[in-house]
Amino acid sequence: MDSIIVTGNGPLNGSIPIAGAKNACLTLMPATLLSDEPLTLTNAPRLSDIRTMTTLLQSLGAEVTSMQGGKVLAMSSHDLNNLTADYDIVRKMRASILVLGPMLARMGQAVVSLPGGCAIGARPVDLHLKALEAMGAELELRDGYVHAKAPAGGLKGGVVEFPFASVGATENALMAATLAKGTTVLKNAAREPEIVDLADCLRKMGAQIDGDGTSTITVQGVDRLGGATHPVVTDRIELGTYMLAPAICGGEVLLEGGRIDLLNAFVEKLDAAGVNVTETPAGLVVCNRGDRVKAVDVVTEPFPGFPTDLQAQMMALLCTADGVSVLEEKIFENRFMHAPELTRMGAKIDVHGGTAKVTGVERLKGAPVMATDLRASVSLILAGLAAEGETIVNRVYHLDRGYERVEEKLGNVGAKIERVKGK
Ligand code: EPZ
Repeated sequence: MDSIIVTGNGPLNGSIPIAGAKNACLTLMPATLLSDEPLTLTNAPRLSDIRTMTTLLQSLGAEVTSMQGGKVLAMSSHDLNNLTADYDIVRKMRASILVLGPMLARMGQAVVSLPGGCAIGARPVDLHLKALEAMGAELELRDGYVHAKAPAGGLKGGVVEFPFASVGATENALMAATLAKGTTVLKNAAREPEIVDLADCLRKMGAQIDGDGTSTITVQGVDRLGGATHPVVTDRIELGTYMLAPAICGGEVLLEGGRIDLLNAFVEKLDAAGVNVTETPAGLVVCNRGDRVKAVDVVTEPFPGFPTDLQAQMMALLCTADGVSVLEEKIFENRFMHAPELTRMGAKIDVHGGTAKVTGVERLKGAPVMATDLRASVSLILAGLAAEGETIVNRVYHLDRGYERVEEKLGNVGAKIERVKGK
């Protein structure tokens, strides 16, 4: 297993390119299952999760051709020959559940392994299943798989009321609804930019969708969908992550292609902490002239609230703030695993259930630490940028799921960072 060694090296300067969004790409790729015509994605990120989804789609008989070093994905589901998404692949990435809705909508049946939980929580898929049942699907859970069948005439439009604005359940239901007979209304739908990006792509394929980006999405089902070419939206979580690099160790960095509207709540918190964020035609410029950031309180919420996927990274910044910050994680039940690792670096963090109290310290100290999940691992890299001495982050395969070439992107703006190949 590879490790990454980061040595505190003072202010950063330069520019960082931001890739296409992992969490948009992971729902745009299964959309190919809705049509027998080609769907091509551009600006795709080069990540191991994308390779996992590629393998899954290919196991169903879809063609997925990666071009331009992985930035372009040319897909076709004309010849699907297997309607079972196997546990061996699904267990590696829970976003695999997103093949269920589109496969059921177009093929009339689907067998998909339950994804199982992951480090940050149990992460059930009950809301996905209830949404599909509201469209007439008959579902049976057997041997760890969801066996789904559509009515003889195909899925029917229905009203889906989500008790929680689940991102994945909204995506599964939205894709299924495009081919359901009649009108489907999704109430308390998730509003994330990745949902809007999916709806934009589906509309290019011929879907009739209104209200995406709001809490109520209305879909008029159509008989079939065509092909399209669609650019994956900018990754707001990668953007926010790298905005925190100059914030935590000083300097001035341009985040190429960054847009404030993707991260309003996060930018408001950076502003309150005293970090300067400026929007320019080239992207977002983040500047910290070396002042110690101020403590701020954070509560994670569905979009447009503060993103849970930036909580770990924000905690790293607040570990060095002047004052006491309180972070409340309201989306996942176990998303503070970075806290004990940050504590090894001298951070002062008290975790009680879903709340972490962080008392800022002047300087963190480098130490060997363990990555536990995708966002926790990158928070340790950020802490290492500001720490005195050397930080060794182990098990960086977690990192490679969601960040392409992190050592290159940070190294190019002056960070002292290198990847050490595992034995
Ligand atoms: C998506 O996960 C993202 N993943 C997550 O990003 C992100 O943290 C999350 O949305 C919230 O923004 C992808 O898009 C691939 P949810 P998802 O359904 O769809 C509970 C990252 O780091 N829930 O909004 O799984 C669930 O347990 C990843 O890139 C149910 O109870 O998130 C959780 O507590 C991590 N039943 C909460 O809702 C369900 O059927 C949020 O889940 C579905 C969800």
